[in-house]
Amino acid sequence: MADRNATLSTPTKRPADSRVTLAHIMSEHDTNLYGTIHGGVVMKLIDDAAAAAAGRHAEGPAVTVSVDRMTFLAPVRAGDLLTVHAELEGAGRTSMTVGVRVTVERWNAAGPGTEVAIGRLTFVAIDADGRPRRVSALAEAGAG
Ligand SMILES: CC(C)(COP(=O)(O)OP(=O)(O)OC[C@H]1O[C@@H](n2cnc3c(N)ncnc32)[C@H](O)[C@@H]1OP(=O)(O)O)[C@@H](O)C(=O)NCCC(=O)NCCS
Repeated sequence: MADRNATLSTPTKRPADSRVTLAHIMSEHDTNLYGTIHGGVVMKLIDDAAAAAAGRHAEGPAVTVSVDRMTFLAPVRAGDLLTVHAELEGAGRTSMTVGVRVTVERWNAAGPGTEVAIGRLTFVAIDADGRPRRVSALAEAGAG
Protein backbone atom coordinates (compact mmCIF):
# COMPACT_ATOMS: atom_id res chain seq x y z
CA MET A 1 0.00 0.00 0.00
CA ALA A 2 1.28 3.48 -0.86
CA ASP A 3 2.53 5.75 1.94
CA ARG A 4 -0.38 8.12 2.52
CA ASN A 5 2.06 11.02 3.00
CA ALA A 6 4.56 10.27 0.25
CA THR A 7 3.12 12.34 -2.58
CA LEU A 8 1.67 15.28 -0.70
CA SER A 9 2.98 18.72 -1.55
CA THR A 10 3.96 20.61 1.61
CA PRO A 11 5.06 24.17 0.82
CA THR A 12 6.81 26.05 3.59
CA LYS A 13 4.63 28.46 5.57
CA ARG A 14 5.47 31.31 7.90
CA PRO A 15 4.29 31.59 11.54
CA ALA A 16 2.38 34.74 10.57
CA ASP A 17 0.30 32.74 8.08
CA SER A 18 -1.48 30.88 10.88
CA ARG A 19 -1.25 33.31 13.81
CA VAL A 20 -4.46 33.51 15.87
CA THR A 21 -5.67 36.15 18.33
CA LEU A 22 -8.67 35.17 20.44
CA ALA A 23 -10.30 37.70 22.79
CA HIS A 24 -12.85 36.96 25.50
CA ILE A 25 -14.43 38.98 28.31
CA MET A 26 -14.17 36.88 31.47
CA SER A 27 -17.32 36.27 33.47
CA GLU A 28 -17.97 35.93 37.19
CA HIS A 29 -19.40 32.47 36.35
CA ASP A 30 -15.82 31.39 35.63
CA THR A 31 -14.38 32.27 39.04
CA ASN A 32 -12.86 29.81 41.52
CA LEU A 33 -13.19 29.72 45.32
CA TYR A 34 -10.74 32.62 45.60
CA GLY A 35 -12.76 34.93 43.38
CA THR A 36 -10.32 34.89 40.45
CA ILE A 37 -10.81 33.13 37.10
CA HIS A 38 -10.35 29.34 37.19
CA GLY A 39 -7.11 28.25 35.50
CA GLY A 40 -8.96 25.56 33.57
CA VAL A 41 -11.15 28.18 31.91
CA VAL A 42 -8.03 30.04 30.76
CA MET A 43 -6.48 26.76 29.59
CA LYS A 44 -9.53 25.99 27.44
CA LEU A 45 -9.20 29.36 25.71
CA ILE A 46 -5.48 28.70 25.23
CA ASP A 47 -6.22 25.28 23.73
CA ASP A 48 -8.91 26.78 21.46
CA ALA A 49 -6.58 29.49 20.10
CA ALA A 50 -3.58 27.18 19.74
CA ALA A 51 -5.70 24.53 18.00
CA ALA A 52 -7.00 27.15 15.58
CA ALA A 53 -3.42 28.19 14.73
CA ALA A 54 -2.39 24.56 14.25
CA GLY A 55 -5.50 23.91 12.15
CA ARG A 56 -4.73 26.92 9.97
CA HIS A 57 -1.17 25.71 9.40
CA ALA A 58 -2.36 22.16 8.72
CA GLU A 59 -5.31 23.35 6.61
CA GLY A 60 -7.47 20.86 8.46
CA PRO A 61 -8.19 19.35 11.86
CA ALA A 62 -5.41 19.10 14.43
CA VAL A 63 -5.74 17.54 17.88
CA THR A 64 -3.91 18.40 21.08
CA VAL A 65 -1.37 15.70 21.89
CA SER A 66 0.59 17.43 24.65
CA VAL A 67 0.62 20.49 26.88
CA ASP A 68 4.36 20.96 27.09
CA ARG A 69 4.45 24.02 29.29
CA MET A 70 1.93 26.24 31.07
CA THR A 71 2.80 29.07 33.42
CA PHE A 72 0.30 31.37 35.14
CA LEU A 73 1.98 34.68 35.89
CA ALA A 74 -0.84 36.79 37.35
CA PRO A 75 -4.49 36.27 38.31
CA VAL A 76 -7.31 36.93 35.85
CA ARG A 77 -10.45 38.63 37.17
CA ALA A 78 -14.09 38.79 36.14
CA GLY A 79 -14.55 41.65 33.69
CA ASP A 80 -11.01 41.39 32.30
CA LEU A 81 -10.68 41.44 28.51
CA LEU A 82 -8.44 38.41 28.02
CA THR A 83 -6.54 37.91 24.76
CA VAL A 84 -4.73 34.73 23.70
CA HIS A 85 -1.99 35.16 21.10
CA ALA A 86 -1.09 31.84 19.45
CA GLU A 87 1.69 31.28 16.93
CA LEU A 88 3.43 28.26 15.40
CA GLU A 89 6.92 27.70 16.84
CA GLY A 90 7.76 24.51 15.00
CA ALA A 91 6.45 21.87 12.61
CA GLY A 92 7.55 18.26 12.29
CA ARG A 93 6.23 15.67 9.88
CA THR A 94 2.70 15.61 11.32
CA SER A 95 3.11 17.53 14.60
CA MET A 96 3.17 21.25 15.33
CA THR A 97 4.28 23.15 18.44
CA VAL A 98 2.35 26.32 19.20
CA GLY A 99 3.48 29.06 21.59
CA VAL A 100 0.82 31.04 23.43
CA ARG A 101 0.92 34.31 25.30
CA VAL A 102 -2.08 35.54 27.29
CA THR A 103 -2.68 39.16 28.22
CA VAL A 104 -5.52 40.98 29.98
CA GLU A 105 -6.81 44.50 30.00
CA ARG A 106 -8.44 45.33 33.34
CA TRP A 107 -11.88 46.91 32.99
CA ASN A 108 -11.02 49.51 35.62
CA ALA A 109 -7.39 50.24 34.74
CA ALA A 110 -5.81 52.33 32.03
CA GLY A 111 -2.51 51.55 30.37
CA PRO A 112 -1.03 48.55 28.60
CA GLY A 113 -2.25 45.00 29.11
CA THR A 114 -0.79 42.64 31.70
CA GLU A 115 0.80 39.34 30.70
CA VAL A 116 -0.97 36.63 32.73
CA ALA A 117 0.13 33.33 31.20
CA ILE A 118 2.47 31.72 28.69
CA GLY A 119 2.50 28.19 27.33
CA ARG A 120 3.46 25.77 24.63
CA LEU A 121 1.31 22.94 23.24
CA THR A 122 1.83 20.25 20.63
CA PHE A 123 -0.82 19.28 18.07
CA VAL A 124 -1.00 16.54 15.45
CA ALA A 125 -2.82 17.02 12.15
CA ILE A 126 -5.23 14.19 11.49
CA ASP A 127 -7.04 12.82 8.46
CA ALA A 128 -10.69 11.77 8.26
CA ASP A 129 -9.81 8.49 9.99
CA GLY A 130 -8.06 10.23 12.89
CA ARG A 131 -4.58 9.19 11.69
CA PRO A 132 -1.61 11.59 11.65
CA ARG A 133 -1.39 13.61 8.44
CA ARG A 134 1.64 15.42 7.01
CA VAL A 135 1.91 19.22 7.46
CA SER A 136 3.86 22.00 5.79
CA ALA A 137 7.32 22.92 7.00
CA LEU A 138 7.66 26.12 9.01
CA ALA A 139 9.89 28.95 7.80
CA GLU A 140 12.49 30.31 10.20
CA ALA A 141 11.30 33.27 12.29
CA GLY A 142 11.80 36.47 10.33
CA ALA A 143 12.03 34.67 6.99
CA GLY A 144 10.18 35.88 3.93
C1 LIG B 1 -2.48 12.51 18.26
C2 LIG B 1 -2.60 11.07 17.77
C3 LIG B 1 -3.44 11.03 16.49
C4 LIG B 1 -1.18 10.60 17.42
O1 LIG B 1 -1.27 9.27 17.06
P1 LIG B 1 0.05 8.34 17.16
O2 LIG B 1 -0.29 7.01 16.60
O3 LIG B 1 0.62 8.42 18.52
O4 LIG B 1 0.99 9.06 16.13
P2 LIG B 1 2.53 8.88 15.87
O5 LIG B 1 3.21 8.00 16.88
O6 LIG B 1 2.66 8.51 14.41
O7 LIG B 1 3.10 10.36 16.09
C5 LIG B 1 2.61 11.41 15.28
C6 LIG B 1 3.32 12.67 15.68
O8 LIG B 1 2.93 13.03 17.01
C7 LIG B 1 4.07 13.23 17.81
N1 LIG B 1 3.72 12.85 19.17
C8 LIG B 1 3.10 11.72 19.55
N2 LIG B 1 2.95 11.73 20.89
C9 LIG B 1 3.47 12.90 21.35
C10 LIG B 1 3.61 13.50 22.62
N3 LIG B 1 3.18 12.91 23.73
N4 LIG B 1 4.18 14.71 22.69
C11 LIG B 1 4.63 15.34 21.59
N5 LIG B 1 4.52 14.82 20.34
C12 LIG B 1 3.96 13.62 20.23
C13 LIG B 1 5.14 12.34 17.20
O9 LIG B 1 6.44 12.77 17.57
C14 LIG B 1 4.85 12.52 15.73
O10 LIG B 1 5.38 13.76 15.29
P3 LIG B 1 6.00 13.94 13.80
O11 LIG B 1 5.10 13.27 12.82
O12 LIG B 1 6.02 15.43 13.58
O13 LIG B 1 7.37 13.35 13.82
C15 LIG B 1 -3.21 10.12 18.85
O14 LIG B 1 -2.29 9.98 19.92
C16 LIG B 1 -4.53 10.68 19.37
O15 LIG B 1 -5.55 10.59 18.71
N6 LIG B 1 -4.50 11.24 20.60
C17 LIG B 1 -5.71 11.82 21.20
C18 LIG B 1 -5.84 13.31 20.78
C19 LIG B 1 -6.97 13.96 21.51
O16 LIG B 1 -8.03 13.37 21.65
N7 LIG B 1 -6.73 15.20 22.01
C20 LIG B 1 -7.66 15.89 22.86
C21 LIG B 1 -8.78 16.52 22.12
S1 LIG B 1 -8.28 17.58 20.78
